Amino acid sequence: MMKMESPAMELLAGTGEVVVGALELSVIVPTFNERDNVFELVQRLEARLNGNGWEIIFVDDDSPDGTAARVREIARGNPRVRCLQRIGRRGLSSACVEGMMASSAPYLAVMDGDCQHDEGVLPRMLEILRRGEADVVVGSRYTDGGGIGSWNTSRAKMSRFATRLSRAVIRQHLSDPMSGFFALRRDALEPAVRNLSNIGFKILLDLIASSPQRLRLKETPYHFRNRHAGESKLDSQAMWGYVMLLADKLIGHIVPVRFVAFGLVGTVGVFVHFAVLSTLFRVMSIPFRFSQAAATMAAMACNFALNNALTYRDMRLTGWQWIKGLMSFGLACSLGALANVGIASYLFRRDTAWVLAALAGIVVGAVWNYAVTGFYTWSKEGRGPRS
Ligand code: GDD
Ligand code: MN
Repeated sequence: MMKMESPAMELLAGTGEVVVGALELSVIVPTFNERDNVFELVQRLEARLNGNGWEIIFVDDDSPDGTAARVREIARGNPRVRCLQRIGRRGLSSACVEGMMASSAPYLAVMDGDCQHDEGVLPRMLEILRRGEADVVVGSRYTDGGGIGSWNTSRAKMSRFATRLSRAVIRQHLSDPMSGFFALRRDALEPAVRNLSNIGFKILLDLIASSPQRLRLKETPYHFRNRHAGESKLDSQAMWGYVMLLADKLIGHIVPVRFVAFGLVGTVGVFVHFAVLSTLFRVMSIPFRFSQAAATMAAMACNFALNNALTYRDMRLTGWQWIKGLMSFGLACSLGALANVGIASYLFRRDTAWVLAALAGIVVGAVWNYAVTGFYTWSKEGRGPRS
């Protein structure tokens, strides 16, 4: 058998024909509202990667600014460019994973769509992978020769704190586990892909923590640049996504992390209930049954809004869907409340201590609410595009 020179020169299966320029590298670029950046990024990659063995896959979550349409426009004139447009879903990590799974290349790279990552580092990353020196090459801002550009001190501090937290789930040393810029061998991805949490922003961390075998890591320094155009999507809720990812990696095999989040939100709801109830009943002297009804509604609406923004952030409802979601959430939780009271009363009648009877009611109600709203309110099926 003929020895393969590099993946860019391969034998065409069965025919013995040598194909020059076979696909070697897919660059996966997640985008949300990056219309004015995608062309610039394609041009910069063209300038740095030569030969035919590479492609760019943009994974766009149906950006309202029309990023996907812009990518397809570029793709019509440049066959290297592909567009994967996801409808009704959000999430940087899951976008990266789907982009990688849509690729057939032996090497994969992930980078942001706003030109903050230095594409000049890609050839070096690829070379390290080709030589078999590592399974994953991470672009690092915190190793010698790297930098974080003009981040303000509070964001820099947050990033360092998050880095320290990451040690809870990955045991290997990495100076920049938060990096969104890295390259890897496809055969390092495949054994890990079914264990991924797919939550939030931190795909690299998820990947390393999910890999059944210890991955060989290498870092290359780069300077984090300023955005070419547009603004960052990494807001305060990204921190919540990060905590959920860590929690899923630590306890996800025991209890679903969404259920834990749902329970935490429920606890907030209890406080809201008492705040509204005491204001109406004690301060404003409104009759108890009206105050209690209003407090229940307020707690339910607040729970819905929080669950929509946090627990089900990746499937969050907006516009008209939000109103419909609130209705179905209210309906499901009313039945949950009936189950709660029914079971608690039954146990109480059978001489169970009142605290235990109440707790049993609460647990059954919560599980019911979680299961039913997960199915009806935030189900993935049957939803059209959302803005
Ligand atoms: N498909 C998809 N879906 N893409 C998204 C989503 C989403 O829900 N949210 C963000 N993106 C895309 C953005 O369009 C951009 O191309 C990339 O993901 C990074 O998002 P930014 O909003 O630019 O993030 P950042 O610059 O604040 O943070 C980046 O740098 C950090 C440090 O390296 C990200 O790469 C972080 O993951 C990274 O930790
Ligand atoms: Mn960015």
